[in-house]
Amino acid sequence: MKQEELQAIASQLKHPTGEKGIEMANMMNETNINMTKHSIQNLNISKENKILELGHGNAGHLEFLMEQAENLKYYGLEMSELMFQEARQINRNFVSQKQAFFSLYDGNKIPFEDESFDKIFTVNTIYFWQKPEELLSEIYRVLNPNGNFCVTFAQEDFMKQLPFTQFEFELYNTEKAQKLIEKTAFKIVYIESQTEQVKSKTGEFADRVFTTIVLEK
Ligand SMILES: C[S@@+](CC[C@H](N)C(=O)[O-])C[C@H]1O[C@@H](n2cnc3c(N)ncnc32)[C@H](O)[C@@H]1O
Repeated sequence: MKQEELQAIASQLKHPTGEKGIEMANMMNETNINMTKHSIQNLNISKENKILELGHGNAGHLEFLMEQAENLKYYGLEMSELMFQEARQINRNFVSQKQAFFSLYDGNKIPFEDESFDKIFTVNTIYFWQKPEELLSEIYRVLNPNGNFCVTFAQEDFMKQLPFTQFEFELYNTEKAQKLIEKTAFKIVYIESQTEQVKSKTGEFADRVFTTIVLEK
């Protein structure tokens, strides 16, 4: 593949736009569903929880999340206008029942008041955070005391084999993520990794190791 094509894949993953963005979002949701479920299951969701997700893509996983407990409220934040629209359309029933709320934000400042959420999670977005320490402090700020935050990402050793990750991506292994978290007030509760077989964006199969770090305020 040419460098421009690899760069285009990286840009779509970071910020889906246009016709290609919709295709990419469908593919992401399918390919990453195990990672997303892992993040959700590690949140320990209980009834009436208010849950925030950063970078939900098309949010095709919302039904799975809503099955975790009764009377949940889900809030989704995105930087991509296209993903915001797609997620609202795909989840229009949850939106009209006022169980799901989607908004756009700038990727840095979370547009909610202090202590607004019981649980927060994000999957495959850490690579694109512009100011990681500041975003973590924002997540901390909007989380309730004793609330949990799950950050789920694919390990650097796997990701660096994918040729498009040379563009746009900041890759993490567990140690690097831990070092970042240690700069914040979060406590690490536990860290769990899994390996799964995936077909990559460029067509080949590989073993992907991914990790969820569970944090507590
Ligand atoms: C690689 S996709 C992952 C989507 C989905 N979470 C998944 O794992 O399939 C990254 C998504 O995060 C969004 N994004 C990028 N930077 C972000 C940030 N700082 N905060 C929230 N979302 C972000 C992008 O618009 C894109 O939809």
